[in-house]
Amino acid sequence: MTSAIVASGISKSFGEVEALKDLELDVPEGAFFVLLGPSGAGKTTTLRVIAGLEKPDMGSVHLTGIEATKATPAERDLAMVFQSYALYPKQTAAQNIASPLRARRMSKADIDAAVKRVSELLHIEPLLERKPSQMSGGEMQRVALGRALVRDPRAFLMDEPLTNLDLKLRVEMRTELTRIHRSLGRTFLYVTNDQVEAMSMADQVAVLRAGTVQQVGTPTEIYDHPANRWVATFVGSPRMNLLQCTANGRLEGKGWSLPNPGFGVQGDRPALLGVRSEDLSLDVRDEAAGLDGRVYAVEPLGDRTLVDIEVGDHRVVVKAPPTSRYAVGEQVRASVALDRVHLFDAGTESAIARR
Ligand SMILES: Nc1ncnc2c1ncn2[C@@H]1O[C@H](COP(=O)(O)OP(=O)(O)OP(=O)(O)O)[C@@H](O)[C@H]1O
Ligand SMILES: [Mg+2]
Repeated sequence: MTSAIVASGISKSFGEVEALKDLELDVPEGAFFVLLGPSGAGKTTTLRVIAGLEKPDMGSVHLTGIEATKATPAERDLAMVFQSYALYPKQTAAQNIASPLRARRMSKADIDAAVKRVSELLHIEPLLERKPSQMSGGEMQRVALGRALVRDPRAFLMDEPLTNLDLKLRVEMRTELTRIHRSLGRTFLYVTNDQVEAMSMADQVAVLRAGTVQQVGTPTEIYDHPANRWVATFVGSPRMNLLQCTANGRLEGKGWSLPNPGFGVQGDRPALLGVRSEDLSLDVRDEAAGLDGRVYAVEPLGDRTLVDIEVGDHRVVVKAPPTSRYAVGEQVRASVALDRVHLFDAGTESAIARR
């Protein structure tokens, strides 16, 4: 498949701060590609380098196969939604949305029709005559999205465009954006620090940490086969449980021991066992592969109950059915779905493969 955007070997420093270190990204044409990472990871800097708003110290940018490292932002023909909205304060929402079209001297009738179309898509028709000072953060954010979507660029770059929406609207907009992406058939490079957004919308996710891509894959690949400890604990809620152990024929930790389900290790290897909370169950009795512990806390969340148990000197979270009744201090056994556990090298923190 052709690549819409390729960034290779990008490095960018701001004084002492190395924002991007040898960053590699390859965004396929037409993809909904999500760049996921915590605050400060370099997500905005990556978008700005691709958009031509920031000059990289090293590396190159190719757009649909053509070198664009030195191209001006206008030549790149990318529409960007800024994290800070960047709306014109003296213009109404309608005028803000229309601004990229006015710059191209489209007829008033065509502009009006285009503004109407995107404002319907984004459910912002009632806001069209308001100025930014008369809108909430979430409303401004949707107008900023509208201003990008009104164009027909080579690709859309979106920098955390849903962060200021309340939960209900954010969930709604996730569905809308997926739908808009499908109907436009254009490449979306979408930045977020919210893993739920990444998992729910992306065809492909690149996980960014401290200016370096840690892993690229489909949401399922990243969730089910995290490349290292950092990705494993960054993606998923509650966080993946990690238990120090020695891996050999068995995985042995302080106060627990499990059969090694096929991880390729030689000698006694210091490692970290990774178990997601949904891969533990308190309902199975007499299971051979289990962790014995004592209930430390119980957190009912409506659709499920999180049970914290103490196993040796580790705290382990189990996702239990909402009907679960456990008492603090109770002795329990958490059976482990061994085919779904992860093992990371204690030193390099990279995932250890199964044989
Ligand atoms: N113009 C700048 N001058 C100095 N440092 C900068 C500048 N822009 C970014 N940085 C630094 O570069 C790093 C990456 O910043 P960037 O804005 O790309 O992160 P981000 O992933 O977008 O974070 P957030 O999720 O908080 O928006 C940070 O350490 C930041 O402080
Ligand atoms: Mg940012």
